[in-house]
This record gives sequence, C-alpha cells and structure tokens, in this order.
Amino acid sequence: MKIGVVAETVEGERRVALTPEGVKSLKAKSFEIIVQSGAGEKAGFLDPQYTDAGAQVVPTAKAVYEAADLVAMLNGPSDSQGDAQALKQGSSLLAFLYPGSNPKTVATLASKNVSAFAMELVPRITRAQSMDALSSMGTIAGYKAALLAADKLPKFFPMFMTAAGTISAARVLILGAGVAGLQAISTCRRLGAVVEAFDVRPAVKEQVESLGAKFVELKLEDDTEDSGGYAKELSKDSHAKELELIGSRMAKCDVVITTALIPGKPAPVLITKEMVKLMHPGAVIVDLAASNGGNCEGTVAGKNVVVDHVTICGPTNLLSEVAFDASKMYSKNVCEFLGVLAPEGAMKLDLEDQILRDTLVTHEGKITHEPTRLKMEKEVAAK
Ligand code: NAI
Repeated sequence: MKIGVVAETVEGERRVALTPEGVKSLKAKSFEIIVQSGAGEKAGFLDPQYTDAGAQVVPTAKAVYEAADLVAMLNGPSDSQGDAQALKQGSSLLAFLYPGSNPKTVATLASKNVSAFAMELVPRITRAQSMDALSSMGTIAGYKAALLAADKLPKFFPMFMTAAGTISAARVLILGAGVAGLQAISTCRRLGAVVEAFDVRPAVKEQVESLGAKFVELKLEDDTEDSGGYAKELSKDSHAKELELIGSRMAKCDVVITTALIPGKPAPVLITKEMVKLMHPGAVIVDLAASNGGNCEGTVAGKNVVVDHVTICGPTNLLSEVAFDASKMYSKNVCEFLGVLAPEGAMKLDLEDQILRDTLVTHEGKITHEPTRLKMEKEVAAK
C-alpha cells in the first residue's frame, strides 16, 4: 500500500503529516511512501532525510495524488484548490476534515469513492490514545498559550527576590481543564506562576491539583458531563453562576487562559466585555477558542488586541509555531492509525472496529458520517 504525503497548502501552515521517522516505521511494516518535494521543509524535515528513510520524493502534489493509495494530510484537501478532485478514484484519505463545516469537500470525496477518515473523530477511548491527534495538538496549544501569556504580560511569571525588592509571582486563571488547559497549567507552574483553574466537570479537580494548581469549585445542579466524558452545554441559570464565579476571580489575576470547548458547538462565552474591565491594566487574556467564536467577547481571531488596557490574544495557528514537534506527534498518530486500518501494510477496513467506524466520513460513494449526511440533506432540502 502506497502512502502519499503532500505539502500543506493552508496559509501559515508549517507542519507536515509524516516525518522521516514515520516513514521508517511504515517502511518496516511493508508500506511504500511517496512524498512531495519540500513537504517537510517548513517543519525542519528535508527531502534527503525522507529519501534516506526510504521514501520516494517526487516534484509535485499531483504526482503524489496520482500514485498514492492513501494520502495523509493535516488540514484536509481544499475543494476550491482542486486537491479533493486530484485524489485517485477509490483511494483513501486521513486528515483533519471537519466534515460538518466542509460539505463541498465531503461531496467531492464521496463522488470519487474516497474512503476518508477524519482525525478529529478518533474516539477518546484507551485503545485510541496513541492516535488521538486532537490531544496531541491540544497539548501543544496549551504549552504555547502559556508562553504567549508570559511574553505579553509586562510582569515576571516567577517570584523574584532581588536587591531591588521582592517581586511577587504572576497569578494565572485557566478556564477549561481538558488537554490544552492541563498543559497550560503545568507550563505556567513550571514558569513559576501561581495558578488556579476552573472547569464545569468536577472530575478534573484531582488532575488540576496534581499539577500544583488550585481548583476553583462551583456546585451546579446540571449534569455537566456526557457519557463520552465531554462537557455538556450549561443551562442559562448555571451559566450565569459560572460567569459570576469567573468574574470574582478575574480582578485578582494577571493572566486568564481560556480553553473551554464543547464538541460540535460554538465556544461557550466565559468572559463578557464587562468582565474584561475587572482586570487590571496590562493584564493578558489568551483565548484558545478564537477560531471557534472565542471564549471571550473581545477576542479577534488571529489578532492581539488591547481592550480596556487588557491585551486579548486570539491565536489561531499556535501549532505551526512548534511545527517540528507538532509534526512528530501527528506523524506518530498517523502511523498508529495505519496500524489499525492496514495492519500488515495492506488495507483491512473492519467496520466493526469503533476507531475506523467513528472516523469514516465517506466510503464507496456514500457519506458514512451520519451527522454530516443529515446536515447536508437538510441543507439541500432547505434550498
Ligand atoms: P478538551 O475537550 O480536552 O477540553 C476542553 C475543556 O473545556 C473540557 O475539560 C471541558 O470540560 C471544558 N469546558 C467546556 N465548557 C466549559 C465551561 N462552560 N466552563 C469551563 N470549562 C468548560 O479540548 P482541548 O483539546 O483542551 O482544546 C481546548 C481548546 O483549544 C479548543 O477550543 C481547541 O479548538 C483549541 N485549540 C486551539 C489551537 C490554536 O492554535 N488556537 C490549537 C489546538 C486547539
């Protein structure tokens, strides 16, 4: 089975889906690998490294699409740029696809009989941990969010005792203690800040405390966690209580890092415009949910803005700033996924397997991801 790797075309993207190390591990399992020249360059992986690892390097993306049985990407093919059409009939695709937001691409993939697997749909079950690319990327985002906050804050993170006086440690509040939030906590702690964190899921209290942060508790009547361990949307009443609690902490904080996410929904608003005013001049908010609407009302996606003397950062491409390690982690996730999809180096699509069933978006000309199919049918009917 031939695995293809192309250069990512999304502006600002620096990562690559498979590293030379990944090539080596796939070669050992009898896969063949074909890589577009320069695909890994921005992440720090050069063509000769791919060749040494056993890949065939070809000059264009077209050559990869024509030859590959499965193309591994990060951002998924763009329908407008013709990448989706360029995939070989009946081939396979592995990428972050977000099918609900990309109906045109999904329709093209189905029309080309592509078996498309969405990396963001890998279930959060123990067996799939090593291929959970959302968690890999969340870890990086949390780490970088902490560094960004430390960079923008006109204060030190650690406490300093100097001849010029004692400087107290920065105080950080983390909202949402999932993968990114926990990594943000541990990075801020390593930098010496005093950290507290809040999450609607009481189950994370122990993890927050094990990282040396204080867990800010709020007793809610709602059941805040679904059967998959994800947060549920709060009732109006509970949301109001949550905002009150967060507001009561903000005046004391130098930094707030927001990471709250409810899968498939716009980001919950945890900081209103009025609440921003509670922070002292020079304080920093880093909003990791910027590209999904933002957890803070003043956030502008992709920009740092100053509102009421508070810097609000809305980063959307932190992962490319750690392109080397982000690529290494994603590449490992891809190799692990292929271990399930094609155990002996040959495709074996077992739809009884939850990992393959949950991630499969299109197959044999059909849209197999039920929520996407229903959404697309509804849109067609509305037209
Ligand atoms: P996750 O699902 O592991 O964690 C999200 C957490 O938010 C959960 O613990 C959940 O309980 C909590 N939460 C949900 N609603 C809440 C509420 N109302 N109040 C408090 N907490 C609430 O997600 P992960 O992987 O940690 O990602 C976090 C965010 O980072 C997401 O928005 C994701 O899109 C974003 N991200 C941003 C990147 C960037 O470059 N800006 C890159 C990668 C991820």
